[in-house]
Amino acid sequence: MKNNENLSTGPAVQRDGFRSVLGAFTATLGSAVGLGNIWKFPYLTGVNGGAAFVFAYLICVAVVGLPLLVAEHVIGRRMRLNAVHAYENVVPNERAWSLIGFAGVLAAVLIMAFYTDIAGWVFAYVAKSVAAFATGSGPLTKESFASLAGGSLEPLAWQAGVIALVTVVIAAGVSRGIEKVTKFLMPVLLGLLILCDIRALSLPGAFKGVSFLFAPDFSKITGGVILAALGLSFFKLSLGMGTMTTYGSYLPDGTRIVPNATRVALADTVVSLLAGLAVFPAVFAFGFEPSAGPSLLFISVPMIFSKMPLGGLFTSLFFILAAIAAVGAMISLIEVPTAWMSEKGRIKRPVAAVISGAVMLLLGVLATLSQGPILSNVKIFGKNFFDVFDFASSNVLLPIGGVAIAIVAGWRLARKEFIAELDKGYGKTPWYSKTIYAFIKFVAPVLIVVILLNSLGLLKL
Ligand code: PFF
Repeated sequence: MKNNENLSTGPAVQRDGFRSVLGAFTATLGSAVGLGNIWKFPYLTGVNGGAAFVFAYLICVAVVGLPLLVAEHVIGRRMRLNAVHAYENVVPNERAWSLIGFAGVLAAVLIMAFYTDIAGWVFAYVAKSVAAFATGSGPLTKESFASLAGGSLEPLAWQAGVIALVTVVIAAGVSRGIEKVTKFLMPVLLGLLILCDIRALSLPGAFKGVSFLFAPDFSKITGGVILAALGLSFFKLSLGMGTMTTYGSYLPDGTRIVPNATRVALADTVVSLLAGLAVFPAVFAFGFEPSAGPSLLFISVPMIFSKMPLGGLFTSLFFILAAIAAVGAMISLIEVPTAWMSEKGRIKRPVAAVISGAVMLLLGVLATLSQGPILSNVKIFGKNFFDVFDFASSNVLLPIGGVAIAIVAGWRLARKEFIAELDKGYGKTPWYSKTIYAFIKFVAPVLIVVILLNSLGLLKL
């Protein structure tokens, strides 16, 4: 089914979509690039031993991430529907696959709850680092971070502001909102990142950081390292929860799915590596530890950058680029429930966007307050709200969603139909269509099941 006019779930809706092949690319890249690159990738690389982790991550992106991204784009564009309705209708008489879409909506809300908390800190750090640079006051310290993250009113205000911002973009629509904003933001982000790289790489002793990132010590590769890399590749490419299916539904017919997805995966990886190149040379040049963990971005980076010439300026630039990255990713997270609600037919898009933002804020308040004295004692299975939302989405919902999507694409959808979607934009079937199909059918589901079992503690690698 190409259009949604004979769909029982709602009346025909005139659909918006990405207007150009370039806009489709920047929007998809905007979803992939986010705090995952600037915050998660460097800290996971730091705690998992450097280049060996990077190597494992690159393999995971190539053999699982890219095929799954292609699968989601194929299903999305084939159905031209939001995630819930796309999976409900993709296999005739098997409506239960809509559960993938519902799980995706739930995952989007859970991820946004903690993602907007971190994004709020990033925006706060933009303001604080710019103020510190302008007034010439000292660098942001461990204490500055503890008082922000452990507070209540301040982080909540930043979080609410961030959610309001992305709600406005989403309410504006797909082509006028998402496409326009990401087309402008992606090049700015890249420019800022390269500036930070040049600064960090020109420090004396920067080379140690470069070899930490690129010279693998393969003895550091363990089952746990591979699993962390696989999980990151899911989170990074926004997979397993219908985000890329929804974006696939906006892809123009002229977009060649495999090359577009390959460019997105490559560009996203380059941004992660560039973020690593801004952080680790500076970490090593000043004799800091690379394995600080999640606080690397908020405690170590400002401390380290403050030690280099023009450090205040580069700290501000670094947080500005992190904020830009977070915006594109959050836009895609809020789009999943917004598209679903507005295509059900009864709710207008701006209203759907506001409802999605409000629900995300409600759960977000729990995540944010669980970092401070008010809710830090409330534990579910030994974890606070922030960690539960992170665990339930990244370690449970995304991998289950990923396996289900690979099964639908590889085993339930006719191969002919799948390949036909890949062939759009070409005169004939390109050589790689069949290869990528085999990866979706066999390699991706098996590997994902392994991560899933491990993250649930059912398989010890
Ligand atoms: N890919 C984003 C990042 O790396 O920051 C995070 C993300 C966005 C995950 C959208 C899931 C999603 F649907």
